[in-house]
Amino acid sequence: MQGKPGAWISRLLPWRASVDPATVSAALDAVSQLKPAVVITGGSRGIGFALAKRFLEKNHETVIVGRNAPRLAEAVAELKAATGIGPFSILCDVTEANAVDVIAAGLNGAGLYLDVLVNNAGIGLAGPFAAQSPLDISRLVALNVESVTRLTRAALPQMIARQRGGILNVASLGAYVPGPNQAAYYASKAYVVSLTEAIASEVSGQGVHVSALAPGPVDTAFHSRIGADRSLYRLLLPSMTADRVARSAYRGFMFGQRVIVPGIFNTAAVIALKVLPHIVTVPIMYGFLKRNLPPR
Ligand SMILES: NC(=O)c1ccc[n+]([C@@H]2O[C@H](COP(=O)([O-])OP(=O)(O)OC[C@H]3O[C@@H](n4cnc5c(N)ncnc54)[C@H](OP(=O)(O)O)[C@@H]3O)[C@@H](O)[C@H]2O)c1
Repeated sequence: MQGKPGAWISRLLPWRASVDPATVSAALDAVSQLKPAVVITGGSRGIGFALAKRFLEKNHETVIVGRNAPRLAEAVAELKAATGIGPFSILCDVTEANAVDVIAAGLNGAGLYLDVLVNNAGIGLAGPFAAQSPLDISRLVALNVESVTRLTRAALPQMIARQRGGILNVASLGAYVPGPNQAAYYASKAYVVSLTEAIASEVSGQGVHVSALAPGPVDTAFHSRIGADRSLYRLLLPSMTADRVARSAYRGFMFGQRVIVPGIFNTAAVIALKVLPHIVTVPIMYGFLKRNLPPR
């Protein structure tokens, strides 16, 4: 982050720190010639783009990662026009086995190191599970589950050694209930929240922030891409803008909140989903998520 992690609400508790001071100063020395950066996967569109804008507005060196070179270039130009500061970009499919190395090389080439990782890139899949293509399901798991796990595991040890930085994993309100008609997607987000909360507990007090972001519906192209734009949840549930979600995410992350749920409606929904039994909530979700409305 720009400035010291102490500029955030510091989470460094000496009795929890597992790294000896010599290791900490060696780890900090190793990056002393580089600037700390916030790396946002899927920063070229939607929520990732809004998060990049928010981090830039707050003067963090920001790097967006995506697979589409023209779209990445457009996003860099749009972010520069909106904030006056140009982000860096790295062309990378984060599901590729060498993604960690590609990102590390891109950062190094720009004189940066990975201080904050935002695992935002994610895809959805709608329709009955048995009718979905096995390849599409594998792609979803590779991105929403495997890449998040791999990038988190690769980044965390150095963050712990430096006693600064952190990881923000973008999950969803869908983490709190099974989602018939988006079964694999909802299950993938349950994994992200579980993983994130567990790791946040493990690193607590060691100067590293680990948070999950759990937004409800957000107005991005995500829904039309999976053919769910005419599902009941799009018509009945309130949506937030990506910018509002990003503001809430930034604030929550800086305060070291473990799970950030943007918006009052979504906060109430999480409480209801924790209290009500699945026998009540799952059939309701079935109705919300079914792609039962004719195309416009
Ligand atoms: N929209 C919602 O209602 C909503 C609600 C809750 C949670 N979320 C979560 O929020 C995150 C962002 O969603 P969004 O609505 O902003 O989606 P989006 O508009 O579809 O944007 C997805 C981003 O991910 C990138 N991406 C996709 N596959 C990638 C890959 N293999 N490697 C690198 N980048 C990749 C895309 O860029 P390229 O295609 O150019 O690579 C794009 O920048 C996702 O994790 C989603 O599950 C969304």
